[in-house]
Amino acid sequence: MLTPEQIKAKKISGEKVSMITAYDFAFARMAEAAGVDQILVGDSLANTMLGFKSTREVGMTEMLIFAAAVCRGAPNTHVIGDMPFGSDATPELAYDNARRFLDVGCSSIKLEGTPKGVIEFLRNKDVPVCAHHGLLPQTAENFKQKGKTDEEAAAIEAAAKYTDNLGCFEMVLEHIPEELGTRITREVNAVTIGIGGGKFTDGHVLVMHDALGMHNGRIPPFATKFVDMYALGVEGFKKYVESVKAGL
Ligand code: KIV
Repeated sequence: MLTPEQIKAKKISGEKVSMITAYDFAFARMAEAAGVDQILVGDSLANTMLGFKSTREVGMTEMLIFAAAVCRGAPNTHVIGDMPFGSDATPELAYDNARRFLDVGCSSIKLEGTPKGVIEFLRNKDVPVCAHHGLLPQTAENFKQKGKTDEEAAAIEAAAKYTDNLGCFEMVLEHIPEELGTRITREVNAVTIGIGGGKFTDGHVLVMHDALGMHNGRIPPFATKFVDMYALGVEGFKKYVESVKAGL
C-alpha cells in the first residue's frame, strides 16, 4: 500500500496518481485488482449508495461501515476516509473522527476547505490529511465551476497554499478552471488530484458510479464513462427474470 511519502514521490518523478471512489467490499476488490493507487471512500456515498440528494445526509456511522468494507476489500491499497459534514466541527472532534477512520484501516483522511484550527491539530497528531478545494459539495450553494473570477481564484489558491504549508500530503481540486488547477499544481508540494481541475494536476479522481456507468443519469462534464455497468446490470437481471419464468 502506498504511503503518503510514496504518493508524494510520484509528483516529484512526474508519475500520475490514480484515485477512484469506492464504497463497498466487492468494488474495492475490483479497484485493487485494477491497480488504482488510492481509493476514496467519499461522502458521495450519500448520493451513489444511499440515494440522498446531498452529501450532508451522512455522518460517521454510515461512513465507517463503508470505509471498513472498502478496507477489507482492498487491504493493499491506500484508502482515504472522507470526513462527513459536521465531523470536523472542532479540532478535537475532527481528531476523534479521523482516528476512527484510521482504526478501521484507512491510511489517511480527507476534509473539505479549511475548518478553523482543524488541519493544524490533525497534523500535530501526525494524521495524514488530504485537503479539498474548489467546489466543496458539503457547503456549496450550487455545483457550478468555482474560481472563474479573479477574486474566487485567488481565494482557492490561497486556501491550497495554506493547507500545503500545514503539511497536507495531497489535495483534491474540484471543478475549477484548468489554468487554476495547473497553477496550484506548480505552486504546492502536495499532490494535486483533480476532478474537473484540468489535465495538468498530479493525478485524477472520479466517482466510481460515473466512471463505471452505474446509473443512467447525467454525469458531470469533466467525468468519463469507461463502461456501461447500468446497461450490463439491467441485461443480467432481465436474463435472470426470464430464466426464473422459464422454470430453469
Ligand atoms: O465524496 C467524494 O466522492 C469526493 C470526490 C468528489 C472527490 O469528495
